[in-house]
Amino acid sequence: MEPATFVLFGATGDLAKRKIYPALFQLFVDQKLPPSFSLIGLGRRGLSHESFQANVEQSLITFSRSEVKDADVMKKFLRAFRYHVLDIDRKEDYTKLLRLVEERENELNITPNRMFYLSVGPEFFETIAANIHESGLDSANGWKRLVIEKPFGHDLSSARQLNTKLNQAFNETEIYRIDHYLGKPMVQQIGHLLHSALSEQEYRTRKIASVQITANEVLGVEERAGYYDHAGAIRDMFQNHMLQLLMMLTIELPNRSSVEEVGKLKRNVMKALKPLNKTDVTHHIIRGQYGAGEIQGEQVVGYTDEPGIELGSHNDTFIAARLQINDPFWKDTPIYIRTGKRLKEKATRIVIEFNSEGPLKDLLIIEIGPNERIFFQRSQSGMENSDVEIPIRSQHSFMKEVVKDAYEILIHDALIGDKTYFAHWDEVELSWEWVQPILDAYRENLLPLHIYPAGTYGPSESDKLLEIDGFHWWFDAKNVSINDATKGESFEAQKAELIEL
Ligand SMILES: NC(=O)c1ccc[n+]([C@@H]2O[C@H](COP(=O)([O-])OP(=O)(O)OC[C@H]3O[C@@H](n4cnc5c(N)ncnc54)[C@H](OP(=O)(O)O)[C@@H]3O)[C@@H](O)[C@H]2O)c1
Repeated sequence: MEPATFVLFGATGDLAKRKIYPALFQLFVDQKLPPSFSLIGLGRRGLSHESFQANVEQSLITFSRSEVKDADVMKKFLRAFRYHVLDIDRKEDYTKLLRLVEERENELNITPNRMFYLSVGPEFFETIAANIHESGLDSANGWKRLVIEKPFGHDLSSARQLNTKLNQAFNETEIYRIDHYLGKPMVQQIGHLLHSALSEQEYRTRKIASVQITANEVLGVEERAGYYDHAGAIRDMFQNHMLQLLMMLTIELPNRSSVEEVGKLKRNVMKALKPLNKTDVTHHIIRGQYGAGEIQGEQVVGYTDEPGIELGSHNDTFIAARLQINDPFWKDTPIYIRTGKRLKEKATRIVIEFNSEGPLKDLLIIEIGPNERIFFQRSQSGMENSDVEIPIRSQHSFMKEVVKDAYEILIHDALIGDKTYFAHWDEVELSWEWVQPILDAYRENLLPLHIYPAGTYGPSESDKLLEIDGFHWWFDAKNVSINDATKGESFEAQKAELIEL
């Protein structure tokens, strides 16, 4: 791996402490950082190099996946860290930063490869990119890369504007857009796993009746009210994570696909998505907001009573959608996506239901969180956690392996210049294009805002969206009969019998 300098904007922030430093430390322990590595942390507050290093050490003690046992290893790791005071708007700070970066490159005798990681609010992206360019930080004789976190824009036009500005300093091959769902090992393999599962003799000829993609959260808006009240579930989850899951599921990746192939296949999915217009959005989209309710035995307030939320806010905390991909394989298969906050239980999963006569349905279940695994199950509607007849089919589980954090995988990929599992501009733009009529309909209030009690599975209209097509959301506890709770143990035992893929 080539030597590099990691220039971290937002080095004193929460994301850096909880995710970036632990990921870098794990890469260091696994010997996956460049042998000559320099990190320069940036923030407005004044800190000496030593106190910055002590803060990083503290965050590793709290958040690292590996226990920090060896003081020497820690010392060696922290030796790479320097701190520099920088106000994002102050041009002269970038000139001083350039001097520090060069000084360290000379000390370490390394090529000026520079990775600029923006762990700051998206409102700063354009200014930082412009100042990097003006100061000459990007003009050394090595590679340069820009890493940014979603959100990439607020709607289609702001996303395009942001991209145009970023392109003045970095070209598309140099921009690494993190969507941390793409860093999850299961998500990286779902296309492969689906197709290898489908190729099993018995399943090959069957038609897929429907696909459901669910990302339910128990948490409410927490500390992020200011951001979330202007984003909602549609911008925070749907436009990026959920559509990325859809793309990764429905592309069939040949082994060792190149970044270009992956990009092209994902683009094709987005292009084949049947577009909505703002007047027919009502038939395909359910908008919801949580009211007061009970979560895991505790009373919680409704969204508009949360601190920091505008009184009478119409913001969405839940979205359910029916989508259709117009290509030969998927054209007859409705795809349902839902995501929301303050729901009954935390789960990210994909359920593929196969066509079958009678009450028993064959399902392929891909669990992405909290655990990662894939397995077949035969279930009766409404009894899915109990009267389960499991044909001994196949299961692939990531549970036995140590599952790496998405940031570890993505930061490593960015350091080696592999953009496969980053969001490419075309697919970001196509996602915004698809979502824009829904945003317009929300803005013009063409769509009802259904209030659902916290601790449920969202508004009942989300169930009706499937019912009219003859389906229901699988694995909602309300579909499980009362006696089933007692059968959980045998259900687990039966699942354990499944054969590895
Ligand atoms: N936290 C997460 O888990 C998470 C997850 C996914 C995405 N994100 C995204 O990642 C970004 C950072 O989130 P965060 O939670 O780390 O935020 P945060 O805790 O509020 O930290 C913000 C950082 O930005 C720096 N900063 C703010 N204004 C600045 C300015 N004018 N000049 C220089 N530095 C400035 C702050 O440093 P000083 O205060 O020292 O200036 C601090 O280091 C956000 O866009 C967020 O949406 C966060």
